[in-house]
Amino acid sequence: MICNNLSVNEVGHLCFAGRDVTELAQKYATPLYLLDEDKIREKCRIYTKAMKTSFGEEALPLYAGKALCIKDIYRIMREEGMGIDVVSSGEIFTASQGGFPMERAYFHGNNKTDADVAYAMDAGVGYFVCDNEEELFAIEQAAKARGMIQKILIRVAPGIDPHTHKAISTGSIDSKFGAAIETGQAGELTALALQQPHVSLEGYHCHIGSQIFETEPFVDAAAIMIQFIATVREYLGYTAKELNLGGGMAVRYLEDHPNIDYANNIAVIADKMKHICAHYDLPMPRVRMEPGRSIVADAGMTLYTVGTLKTIPNFRSYVSIDGGMPDNPRYALYESPYTVVTANRMNDDKDTVCTIAGRCCESGDLIQEGVKLPKPQRGDILAVLTTGAYNYSMASNYNRIPRPAMVRLCGGEDQLILRRETFEDLIKNEI
Ligand code: LLP
Repeated sequence: MICNNLSVNEVGHLCFAGRDVTELAQKYATPLYLLDEDKIREKCRIYTKAMKTSFGEEALPLYAGKALCIKDIYRIMREEGMGIDVVSSGEIFTASQGGFPMERAYFHGNNKTDADVAYAMDAGVGYFVCDNEEELFAIEQAAKARGMIQKILIRVAPGIDPHTHKAISTGSIDSKFGAAIETGQAGELTALALQQPHVSLEGYHCHIGSQIFETEPFVDAAAIMIQFIATVREYLGYTAKELNLGGGMAVRYLEDHPNIDYANNIAVIADKMKHICAHYDLPMPRVRMEPGRSIVADAGMTLYTVGTLKTIPNFRSYVSIDGGMPDNPRYALYESPYTVVTANRMNDDKDTVCTIAGRCCESGDLIQEGVKLPKPQRGDILAVLTTGAYNYSMASNYNRIPRPAMVRLCGGEDQLILRRETFEDLIKNEI
């Protein structure tokens, strides 16, 4: 199986984090998100250990909460000693409510409003990742008004185009994020930041994209960033103390996806950075990375109940489930691959090629195509694996479908951490 938290028990049922998921589907109803807390902790520790070993004790992984933003995740991040990446006042609020120490938070976004800037400062967010000139001035003003100095990083577009879906590639020059090195704008923003009395420029940030399997684009981005730091020292006499390399390392969604050795990737990146720093006689900066997907994706699973099987001769078989694009829009948006299995009949022959369809009034509401399953029957439980990242966080109420519940699995116990939305929830903001 694609992850070591999956197994099959003696009655042929899928188990996740050691629990029979067919039983969980009966207990909590479907659609249902499951979350394996031990897996999340394991991933945090892989990053923390690898970063401290490769970059030194000051290095820190920051969990990118956009992948899954709920209060409970910030309890885990606090306990694991992680930092966090936040992208909106709503994420800051959620993390604060989860008891996260906000001095270890980095605030992202290409358009922080004045209200966001004020909210983040009042919440004690440690670092702003400053995207542009207007934001820099807004931070300066807000910090001045509060009689404080705000630490920032500047977001830089390193000009890297990794092999990933266009919609989740962010590091090229033509991007809405950050200031590009090649155009000279990253250097200009640096000079401006150094003139602001209430802003302390700590260094730089870059993020090249998401779901990237290769190590090379990360190594290249790190190399470009160190060269940039060296150039800035030469022209402006400023030496960056911190370098944040963003997130983006891939996870396995399919059996034929390669296994990713995160620790090894980190070691390779560190080697290259040390080499270039030595070449320019630069001190190694403090390093941050921002994994989101690779922390939570395989800690998640979604369970659905099969409603119908519709076979259209000479075309295909649609199996319809009780969820779909409202709880997982990723196939509709990016044609993202997923492994789908019949949780209550894991040992049966997979004799039917199916298109998994949701129940929205929209043909594009699919979860996956070309999936081999035992001939689906009404009442079967389908498990879509690796849904911990960018599923609940991107969920909607399209077609007025309430969002599913979420159950946390930990130490053999199951605990409801998110109640299923009700119809009342759907209209609660209507006046
Ligand atoms: N840091 C920054 C500045 C980011 O923009 C992102 C993701 C991350 C870190 C975390 O990247 P990760 O380690 O999760 O790849 N909705 C898309 C993914 C969008 C990613 C946006 N930024 C999806 O479902 O695939």
